[in-house]
Amino acid sequence: MNLHHKKRPLFITLEGGEGSGKTTQINKLAERLTRENYKVITTREPGGTPEGEKIRSLFVKGGTEKWSPLAEVLLVLAARAMHVERVVNPALDAGKVVVCDRFSDSTVAYQGYGRGVPLEKIERITQDVLGDLTPDVTFILDIEPEVGLKRSTKRMARERNPDSQAEDRFEKMEFSFHQKVRNGFLEIAKREPDRCIIIDAAGGTEKMADDIWSALSKRL
Ligand SMILES: Nc1ncnc2c1ncn2[C@@H]1O[C@H](COP(=O)(O)OP(=O)(O)O)[C@@H](O)[C@H]1O
Ligand SMILES: [Mg+2]
Repeated sequence: MNLHHKKRPLFITLEGGEGSGKTTQINKLAERLTRENYKVITTREPGGTPEGEKIRSLFVKGGTEKWSPLAEVLLVLAARAMHVERVVNPALDAGKVVVCDRFSDSTVAYQGYGRGVPLEKIERITQDVLGDLTPDVTFILDIEPEVGLKRSTKRMARERNPDSQAEDRFEKMEFSFHQKVRNGFLEIAKREPDRCIIIDAAGGTEKMADDIWSALSKRL
């Protein structure tokens, strides 16, 4: 498989609800790519730059109603603008495969489907800020919110640092929100079947990693 045969290497994103296994799979995918001799970077949103990580902290900590839905879109886009300019584009230009934990689809699923910001509005602002940068391949890790939230709550309890506030602002949102987000991701995948690959996140981590790798190979 040659991930570098195009002008630029692949920009790969992983999407999905809380506890769907994005971080776990990103690490496995990056290891696999590295083993196969690809240059690769992993990064995440919101975040990816020191400034973006500060925005992340504002975004994911605190009470659920702290930010209005539209303010959330603008916050993540401020972080995303810098992330793309300073990290994603330079890495792709340097010949590195970029594997990113969440990107624009999360904004559509969470702030659009989940919190009710009109999808056209999100698309318009995104187009103005990012232009045409779209991931080449997006894995949508699909899990029942009950299962995902349980996993993610367990992980947070394990990693809990008593000195810092938990990154649980979205986990705390009502259950119907998480169902809307899941449905949103599935709708995105339906609209863009060439880019989006749905991965069943109910299986074990090894099975998921195999599914991701075999789907990635087929696209190349
Ligand atoms: N396929 C899986 N089956 C069971 N538990 C999983 C699976 N994938 C991840 N986990 C566990 O669930 C928790 C959340 O996984 P993580 O990769 O952090 O998800 P995300 O980044 O999507 O929130 C972690 O404790 C992780 O070890
Ligand atoms: Mg994660």
